Parts: sequence; structure tokens; C-alpha cells
Amino acid sequence: MTDQTPFKMKLEGKVAIITGGASGIGEATARRFAEHGARAVVIADIQDEQGQRVAESIGLHRCRYIHCNVTDEQQIKDLVESTVQMYGQLDIMFSNAGISGGDQPILDLDLSAYDASSAVNARGMAACVKHAACAMVKGGVKGSIVCTGSILASGGPVKFTDYAMAKSAILGLVKSASRQLGAYGIRVNSVSPGGVATPLLCKTLQMGAEELETLLDKYKCLQGKGPMKEKNVADVVSFLASEESAFVTGHDLIVDGGHPH
Ligand SMILES: NC(=O)c1ccc[n+]([C@@H]2O[C@H](COP(=O)([O-])OP(=O)(O)OC[C@H]3O[C@@H](n4cnc5c(N)ncnc54)[C@H](O)[C@@H]3O)[C@@H](O)[C@H]2O)c1
Repeated sequence: MTDQTPFKMKLEGKVAIITGGASGIGEATARRFAEHGARAVVIADIQDEQGQRVAESIGLHRCRYIHCNVTDEQQIKDLVESTVQMYGQLDIMFSNAGISGGDQPILDLDLSAYDASSAVNARGMAACVKHAACAMVKGGVKGSIVCTGSILASGGPVKFTDYAMAKSAILGLVKSASRQLGAYGIRVNSVSPGGVATPLLCKTLQMGAEELETLLDKYKCLQGKGPMKEKNVADVVSFLASEESAFVTGHDLIVDGGHPH
């Protein structure tokens, strides 16, 4: 007997927003979503020229760029509303925009660095989850929301206290939101990457991409596979965004090649 189910791409017909989609993990995920058959991918970022370039390279019939600073709740609300107006619904929110924090240890912690980091990494995430969920509930869409956390939320960094604090808030956000939104069939999860040589990490550690990749390649237990790339995180986000993870919610999925000690 043959399986009569017609082949369907993983994200066929889905409408997605990706914040921080102009670069790094967000850009790689926009490309993956398009490859998996998404009907529309809206890239939201503050790097307008770069975001526009990424959208054009994916194809404007499928990908649009919209300026959105996630520290401004009204801009997030407008982003979600324009997406629903353009495409009729919102199925996937990948809340990914992030910044590195200060590098002070606790003894020297500058609390204004926490405020700056938290405005994007925690408060911005919460606002994206809120407005995406509102649109999904209103439209009766059993959607998927994925936030980008970090292994530094649970990995106990030596420094980067403000970043670790802000990223830890995402774990609470995901747990709490998933429990409340389950009644609507909406799933909320996070992906917590280990080191990837994106502009964010290169800037934080003041290293070039190649030098950083060599360092990161050693700092994981999985050896012989080369350094982890943006696309390796994008594949996990695609899984969490798709029906392949239909019963996964309230989960933080660590993607780091295994902690070496
Ligand atoms: N690279 C890593 O090693 C690593 C590890 C763990 C978690 N992360 C997280 O991954 C996410 C993506 O970062 P990346 O490494 O791809 O870096 P990246 O710098 O390549 O991408 C981050 C994107 O977010 C955008 N952004 C920053 N502030 C914004 C704002 N206020 N509003 C809208 N967009 C904004 C930037 O313009 C940029 O395009 C971040 O949340 C980051 O904290 C990265």
C-alpha cells in the first residue's frame, strides 16, 4: 500500500514575522522559512538597507522588509497589524532581535547596561509575544511563537551579567505565555543558541569571524563537525515553527553542540 498523502513543505502557506531578520540567525531563518515553503516572510529590523537587501535576495514575491524597533511597542503593534493586513493572518512569530550587553562582572555591574539590554532582549521579546498572540487569537490561528534566548541564561557566564539576566527573563516569558496561550492552540517556545560567529558576537568579543569560529569550534563537546553556523539554529527554529513540533510548547531548546564541561 502506498502513502497517498501529497508532499507538503514544512511551512507551506504560513505567514511569518522575524525580528532581527536583517542579519545573523534571523537572516538565516528567513532564508530557511522561504525554502520550507512559507507564503510570506516579513523581516523586521532597524538596519533598513541590509533588511531590504535580504528581502530582495529571498524574493519580494515572498519576503518583505518592515522597519521595526522592538523597544517601541507601538512599532511592534503596527508591524503585526500591517502583516495581517497584507497577508490575511499571522502564523509564526520568530522574536529574535537582540543586542549584546555590557561585559561587567557583578562587582562592577552598571545597572543602566541592564536597562539597555533588557529593553531589547527581554521587554522587546515580551511585546512581540503579546502582539503576535493577540493577532493569532483574534484571527483564530493556532500559531507558533519562538523566542531567541541564549545558553548564557542557564550557562553561568563569567561576565555579561546584564545579558544573562535579560535572556533569563525569556525562559519565564515562554513558560508563562505557553500556559496561557495553550487554550487557543498557540505554542510558545524558545531556542537557546551557543556561540555563532555573527556580527553580534564578533562585536562583543572584538574578534573577526574566522578567529571567533576557530575558538567556538573548540568550545563544544561535538567535535569534527566544524563550528556551529546560523543555519544550524535556523533549522531548529523551523522545526519549532512547524507542525513537526505540534505538541512541543513551553520548551527551551538548547542548540550548542553540547557543553564541553
Ligand atoms: N551569535 C550568538 O552566539 C548568539 C548566541 C546566543 C543567542 N544569540 C541571540 O541570537 C539573536 C540574533 O543575534 P545574532 O547573533 O544573529 O546577531 P546579529 O547582530 O547578526 O543579528 C541581530 C539583529 O537584531 C537587530 N536588532 C538589534 N536591536 C534591534 C531593535 N531594537 N529592534 C529591531 N531589531 C534589532 C540587529 O539590527 C540585527 O540585524 C539575538 O537575540 C542574540 O542575543 C546569539
